[in-house]
Amino acid sequence: MKTIIIYYTFGGSTQKEAARLAAELKAPLCRVKETRNRSFLGSFIPGGYLAMHRKPVSIQPLDVDLKDYDQIYIGCPVWAGYPAPAFNAIVQQLPAGKKVELFLCSGGGGTEKSESGTKEMIEKKGCSVASYRDVLTGVKPGKMKE
Ligand SMILES: Cc1cc2nc3c(=O)[nH]c(=O)nc-3n(C[C@H](O)[C@H](O)[C@H](O)COP(=O)(O)O)c2cc1C
Repeated sequence: MKTIIIYYTFGGSTQKEAARLAAELKAPLCRVKETRNRSFLGSFIPGGYLAMHRKPVSIQPLDVDLKDYDQIYIGCPVWAGYPAPAFNAIVQQLPAGKKVELFLCSGGGGTEKSESGTKEMIEKKGCSVASYRDVLTGVKPGKMKE
């Protein structure tokens, strides 16, 4: 089974978790970047709003073809209780039939209010959610580096 880890990070903690997984699974990493250069303020307004409304943002073209992989880990920070909007853009690009493993990095609040809807998004793409993990990073927004 071919595995890849695709992730978005704003402050670096999701990247850390993605790199840890990549080493453990000996799998390649794919970092997703937004087209726009997001400021810290811009992560809250409009970032938090877009996250809560499950709106995608424009992302740079991926440098991998997700069709080539069977198992896809997706990692993303949590904004306002929801996956950051880059997550919605990643899900849009998911080919059907993939086994998806999710890890959502939050300061400590987790994703209780958004978990079921997030899983539904993946299932609507014809993929299965094989695992779902909240990673509590302990990094509060005010302590984030840009
Ligand atoms: C706009 C914004 C909203 C956030 N909202 C939450 C939240 O609702 N709950 C929480 O526990 N952490 C929240 N955080 C903290 C991040 O989820 C946490 O620091 C995460 O580890 C960041 O990952 P990153 O460093 O990969 O961007 C928020 C951070 C930002 C920038």
